Amino acid sequence: MNQIDVCLSPELIHLYDITGKIVVAVDILRASSCMTAGISNGVGSIRPFADLEACKAMKTQGYVIAGERNGQKVAGFDLGNSPYDYLQEHLNGKKIAVTTTNGTLAIEKSKNAKMVVIGSFLNKSTLANFLQKKGEDVLIFCAGWKGKFNLEDTLFAGAMVEALKGHFLPSCDAPLAAQALYKDAKKDLRAYLQNSSHVQRLQKLGIDRDIAYCLTEDQLNVIPALSGEEIIALDES
Ligand code: MLT
Repeated sequence: MNQIDVCLSPELIHLYDITGKIVVAVDILRASSCMTAGISNGVGSIRPFADLEACKAMKTQGYVIAGERNGQKVAGFDLGNSPYDYLQEHLNGKKIAVTTTNGTLAIEKSKNAKMVVIGSFLNKSTLANFLQKKGEDVLIFCAGWKGKFNLEDTLFAGAMVEALKGHFLPSCDAPLAAQALYKDAKKDLRAYLQNSSHVQRLQKLGIDRDIAYCLTEDQLNVIPALSGEEIIALDES
């Protein structure tokens, strides 16, 4: 039986051999939710950058540029990091270059994986069905917050362990802990996360509707996947 593991922070990724695994990059609030929303909205491709200036320079190459630091849109960028930014009709077919505080760094650190896909509550079941069919070992990679553990990404990891139970064996304690947390939280994720650091941070910035959107399961049925340097819609055919 294949194995599922969970990396709780980019600071720990060096402990995992990802070369033979499918890595699910997760940044629920909000980068991976934005990418899922954008791809579902017909965005042509999304190119993640860990470095802000490198991302900004892509404007000269015809990219729409999206930048967030500490939860806020970076001045001079076209988009911030709200999923509602990515749902705008004019982005259909466009190329987006994006840099965020944590999510794009996690994707950068995933690049040696056999495959990198983007996970969010928005595409949870579609992603679980794909992983089950694919039958490869999986690592859920939590973006966290500046290297620290965060609750929302870990809850998503637990949701995936729970969705894949019976098909994937948890390979260490992190998946077991994440699964236990999710089982405790799943009846009302929004309430469970009210006191979490990033929900508090976003609320102080007046960003509330994004939180509800990013925590609503199975609104979308696309799987964003890394193809070279670009994230595109996975063709499962
Ligand atoms: C992140 O990169 O951690 C998040 O996307 C930050 C945010 O947009 O709130």
